[in-house]
Amino acid sequence: MNSIRDLDLKGKRVLVRVDFNVPMDTEKNITDDIRIRMALPTIHHILEKGGKLILCSHMGRPKGRRVEDFSLAPVARHLGTILERDVRLAPDCIGEASEAMVAAMQAGDVVMLENLRFHKQETENDPDFSRQIARMADVYINDAFAVSHRAHASVVGIPPHVAEKAAGFLLQTEMDFFHKAMDAPVRPLVALVGGAKVSSKLGALENMLDKVDIMIIGGAMANTFLKSQGVAMGASKTEDDLLGTAREFVEKAEEKGIKLFFPVDFVVADRFAADAVTKNVTFQDIPGEWMALDIGPASTVFFQEAMNDARTIVWNGPMGAFEMDAFARGTMAMCQSVASSHALSITGGGDSNAAVKKSGESANISYMSTGGGAFLTLMEGKTLPGVEALK
Ligand code: 3PG
Repeated sequence: MNSIRDLDLKGKRVLVRVDFNVPMDTEKNITDDIRIRMALPTIHHILEKGGKLILCSHMGRPKGRRVEDFSLAPVARHLGTILERDVRLAPDCIGEASEAMVAAMQAGDVVMLENLRFHKQETENDPDFSRQIARMADVYINDAFAVSHRAHASVVGIPPHVAEKAAGFLLQTEMDFFHKAMDAPVRPLVALVGGAKVSSKLGALENMLDKVDIMIIGGAMANTFLKSQGVAMGASKTEDDLLGTAREFVEKAEEKGIKLFFPVDFVVADRFAADAVTKNVTFQDIPGEWMALDIGPASTVFFQEAMNDARTIVWNGPMGAFEMDAFARGTMAMCQSVASSHALSITGGGDSNAAVKKSGESANISYMSTGGGAFLTLMEGKTLPGVEALK
């Protein structure tokens, strides 16, 4: 993979695929701009080297239609404020008006193309659509790790049509950290995995069995594993069609000598609500009508001890329904443990990162990936189409 550092950018039209798919409130204020800030090293580099900077991104899933709610206008404004320079929003990502705007650019100018997903050709990876965007560029840079698992036009379709292409600093950093943690880790390597469903993380769990020394499983997905071992989970969420798979997974882990940890107690509730009646129970005592919504205090200590000697920790997925304070304690305790560990710690996925942010421990995590689906794809042991397209 070429690095942006290797390219001469002076006077060139540099098209950068970024992932500025950031959350906004109803007033269109950006509520978390980390994805924008993480792209700043690449942006500054291009401007310092005298390039003409053309940014392109998707926003949400407008399904190929122009939906003003998904316009990148607030993002262009926000970036302009950060850069303290004009960031002009093109009326579209293709077409005469946008091409004219790019043609008029001087070195140091910044243009942001409008939401790529206003055209269904983006997600369909339409070759003609790719060519139309590609002809506005001399250089293509991918700095959009978080969407690099999608074989979309701007991720894989454009690069073959542009003479020079490379990874931006963010994409490079993401790949380097992931490689350090999963492919060449200092051991013991601990995976902390949570979240709602076994089904959505099965590929990652299976792949990690060949990589990690210790695996800690929490969140609602632990319910299915425990049920597969004969634990009565009451009214907790489980995926009963995966009980066989879960059983086999536990056997495989044993065969490989992986230490597998599940919760030993829970915060259970009489319903899924912030004001539900709650109590702490051991895994043997979950009442029939109650549901597990967080790991309990004994599990927290158990998990913390399991992580004690870790030299590398990879974390994806919360331990409970942490959006509700009543069920946040387990996940918050994990944030503190990971943050205070001497291990190289990497978190990925929107929920885990939101939890770390809520705990105030962001600065103490070695690296928080900007990717959700892309991070999971790497955990599954797969390559990213966006990275392959740069080779
Ligand atoms: C994300 O937020 O995970 C990325 O921007 C990708 O978005 P998508 O899941 O809509 O492709």
